[in-house]
Amino acid sequence: MRLIILGPPGSGKGTVAKKLARDFELHHLSAGRLLRELIEKDTQVGMRIKKYLDKGELVPENFVAEMMKLEILDEDKYILDGFPRSIDQAEEISEVPIEMVIYLGVPDDEVIKRLLLRGRKDDTKEVIQERLDIYHKETTKVITLYKEMGILKIINGAPPEDVVYADVKEAVEKKFKV
Ligand code: AP5
Ligand code: MG
Repeated sequence: MRLIILGPPGSGKGTVAKKLARDFELHHLSAGRLLRELIEKDTQVGMRIKKYLDKGELVPENFVAEMMKLEILDEDKYILDGFPRSIDQAEEISEVPIEMVIYLGVPDDEVIKRLLLRGRKDDTKEVIQERLDIYHKETTKVITLYKEMGILKIINGAPPEDVVYADVKEAVEKKFKV
């Protein structure tokens, strides 16, 4: 099972991916979390990466692509969370036989509410807006690409967590006949 989960910031990618990883024995590979782990290591690289996350900007895209490619090397049971976020990144993994891309659709005003409530370091009004702008400008193109490839599954991410997850789980079970 090679899955991707995409959606705007705060759409519930991490929440859903964690449950899928538990139920289908997948590696949950969140690009944002891996980058935050690098920052915690307090190295020169970490300090440089931090500047991008603090502003809500994309970390240099091929760095993240190489990092994710190393994570999935020789693996065939995983869910990529928040990657790819640009056409360039999608091209970097064009050889990878991704079977399903889950897209969580949630309106901007709802994700802003959720993120302000969560309060991670990059969950300030200004930084959320930057993350949303990049999402609309870059990541929506990736969603269109996977739609054209016929592997996109659109899920309404606006209802409560349990409802969203039940829909996602049903779609995965149907796709993989499990
Ligand atoms: P990343 O960590 O991926 O942040 P994001 O995409 O902005 O998304 P979040 O993690 O904030 O939200 P989520 O969709 O996972 O939602 P969650 O489940 O947490 O990326 C951070 C940064 O890293 C980027 O800005 C960039 O700098 C860099 N980066 C990452 N990927 C990169 C890449 N590919 N290339 C370059 N740079 C990259 O839920 C959010 C909140 O809502 C939680 O409190 C949760 O409890 C709640 N919630 C979840 N579901 C529901 C629901 N159904 N109803 C109500 N509340 C809900
Ligand atoms: Mg997340």
